[in-house]
Amino acid sequence: MIMKENVFIMEHPLIQHKISMLRDERTGTNEFRRLIEEITVLMGYEALRDLPLEDIKIKTPIETCYSPMVSGKKLAIVPILRAGLGMTGGILTLVPSAKVGHIGLYRDEETHEPHEYFCKLPAPIDQRTILVLDPMLATGGSAVAAVNFIKQHGGKNIKFMCIIAAPEGIKHFHECHPDVPIYCGHLDRCLNENAYICPGLGDAGDRIFGTK
Ligand code: PRP
Ligand code: URA
Repeated sequence: MIMKENVFIMEHPLIQHKISMLRDERTGTNEFRRLIEEITVLMGYEALRDLPLEDIKIKTPIETCYSPMVSGKKLAIVPILRAGLGMTGGILTLVPSAKVGHIGLYRDEETHEPHEYFCKLPAPIDQRTILVLDPMLATGGSAVAAVNFIKQHGGKNIKFMCIIAAPEGIKHFHECHPDVPIYCGHLDRCLNENAYICPGLGDAGDRIFGTK
């Protein structure tokens, strides 16, 4: 894993292999969804390295002991709708008791500015580790808006996870939220004139949900 200024780029061969499969335009909805979830599990393993543990009393067949377990109720996952929903199951596989909030944002096709249409966060948000999920970090507008919103609601310990990022998005996000670590599966080359990531994978939401 490459780490620079709170940006963690995953190098694991399994993550790279599965991202290459995602990029392929021949990959259909069913396989695309499965791959997004598998990549999220692999990335989640790294991103949740510092999850808080609590010692729980357990009776083994031999004796009673105190043994560490993840305080799952302290984790909130916040997928950015729609595409972030595809990653939610991957994190819930790792921490089934995590709470799930939702932030609905869509990018205006002309201006590429994010517009909010839904927000529901688990309370009390200020006492949780919050993992914001979105497979694509392009201009960074959506991720910045989502984290602004979470911070306005009192969220403090926030992480952002994406599968593919453009350098422009990393820069914008990092300038606005230097305190929020970015976990990224692959750093791509650049954005095109429509603010799509190159080489990217196209429109993640449409490929996950089979729309368009
Ligand atoms: C996509 C993607 C991100 C956003 C990234 O969502 O899932 O949320 O664009 O672009 P940005 O970094 O330039 O903001 P989109 O707005 O297409 O909505 P969708 O998930 O409903 O398809
Ligand atoms: N949103 C996507 O789904 N893909 C991109 O390349 C950019 C924004």
